[in-house]
Amino acid sequence: MKAYTIIPKPRSIQYKQGNFKCTGIPQINVSAFQQEADVFIKQIQNTFGGQAFSETTDGITLMKADNSFGDIHKAESYRLEILSGGIRLGAQTQTGAFRGLQTLRQLFLSGYQNGELSIPCGIIEDFPRFSWRGLMLDCSRYFYSVEFIKKLLDALSLQHISIFHWHLTDDQGWRLPVKQYPLLTEIGSRRNEHRLWGSVTGGFYTEEEIRDIVSYAAQRHIEVVPEVDLPGHASSILAAYPGLGCTGGPYRVEDRYGVFEDVLCAGNDGIFPLFEAIFDTLAELFPSKYVHIGGDEVRFNRWKECPRCNKRFTELGLDNYAQMQSWITVRLAQMLRDRGRITIGWDEVLENTGKFPLPENVVVMSWRAQQGGAHAVSIGRRTIMSPQNEGCYLDYRHIDTPEEIGRLGIGTIFKGYYMNPITPQMSKDEASLVMGGQANLWSEVIYAGKIAEYMIFPRICGIAEALWSDEKTKDIEDFSKRLAVHQDRLDRLELLQYRGAIQ
Ligand code: ACM
Ligand code: ZN
Repeated sequence: MKAYTIIPKPRSIQYKQGNFKCTGIPQINVSAFQQEADVFIKQIQNTFGGQAFSETTDGITLMKADNSFGDIHKAESYRLEILSGGIRLGAQTQTGAFRGLQTLRQLFLSGYQNGELSIPCGIIEDFPRFSWRGLMLDCSRYFYSVEFIKKLLDALSLQHISIFHWHLTDDQGWRLPVKQYPLLTEIGSRRNEHRLWGSVTGGFYTEEEIRDIVSYAAQRHIEVVPEVDLPGHASSILAAYPGLGCTGGPYRVEDRYGVFEDVLCAGNDGIFPLFEAIFDTLAELFPSKYVHIGGDEVRFNRWKECPRCNKRFTELGLDNYAQMQSWITVRLAQMLRDRGRITIGWDEVLENTGKFPLPENVVVMSWRAQQGGAHAVSIGRRTIMSPQNEGCYLDYRHIDTPEEIGRLGIGTIFKGYYMNPITPQMSKDEASLVMGGQANLWSEVIYAGKIAEYMIFPRICGIAEALWSDEKTKDIEDFSKRLAVHQDRLDRLELLQYRGAIQ
């Protein structure tokens, strides 16, 4: 029985007689998409070594799609023809070509043994269900190296992940250099590390490193969306600039986990120049049109007791203190709009809006469940689904046993595979506002990149399939068979993976 065992499952596969065979990896002829071919060659060489490419054959042809490839109209679509005489990949866009090359990379990873490549013949036609297929990595609770992030991007691109959501700030560390506020990194990037008694941990990314990551991701057709969490999860800011808190401190970069009472003081006008400086920095370093402002888990108790916050509260004529967050959200969204950027916020930005309704173009990232996203589309806002209870939280344990790494809950591969960003209650118009979904890896207990790999793989494969493939053809038996082959591919990329039960 022939089977490509590709993840995410392509839209259409038509198997043909015979196999494409080659000694070594075939050469690539490029009539278009040179950049994509170059990245693909690098990825193959990283795995199989520089000698893998055959000198003699001219087996793979990349071309701009023409009519002979039929109706290729979607931005990421591709058509891959594997015939005994050669492989042809057609796409209309560079992104489509790159996605097709990643499918081919999967076939090479499973079809290349002892210097010989053999792939069943067939024709694959493919395009995604959603354009937003993301992974969020929390680089605040623990800091991950540029090298690790690049390795991760190469691994994610294999399953057509399109978004790298980079969680750059939180209570436990600030990772973004902001020129006008040097203490954010000088003080805010380091914290005590109890795990290693008495030591200090942390770090930040230089501008050069950030540009390097953004460009590395872009070459892999992955968009990097930065997140700076405001106005809560702000201990690292407060440690650096204690005047921006309600009590004046003292504060420290948190070495505990949880949700903390101290947040930025809503009555202090000094928070706005800080936001402007942060957004100028983000606009300069990140080409993405999206910026994530966080907005989750803000505690309001300090605001209630703070004279400056109370003055603000009275001036604004509010009914409750939580509405001051909405006032801030509106200001943040306007600042980003001034810089040509679209705001994304966690689903709390939908609440307590009062006089300050959520601006129309703000995108809601639904994490507490799918209700936030469902509410967002019901009021005409776009949403990205990342529900913690539907397998999207990769800090959760793989299965329910104390032997597994993780915290808070259980998120099986099965759950992520069955995640559907469109809820049954959504109307067609509402469903059209769902941009897609993503998995989030919070890193409170993930102190090394290797552990991050174990939490991400292979769960991201199920989520990638939920976001790319036709939901009507979901079949866990079929998926688990493909996953078994795919995990061997991931082994070749030297990723540490979970290999236990999938549900
Ligand atoms: C979140 O998990 N606090 C967005
Ligand atoms: Zn205050």
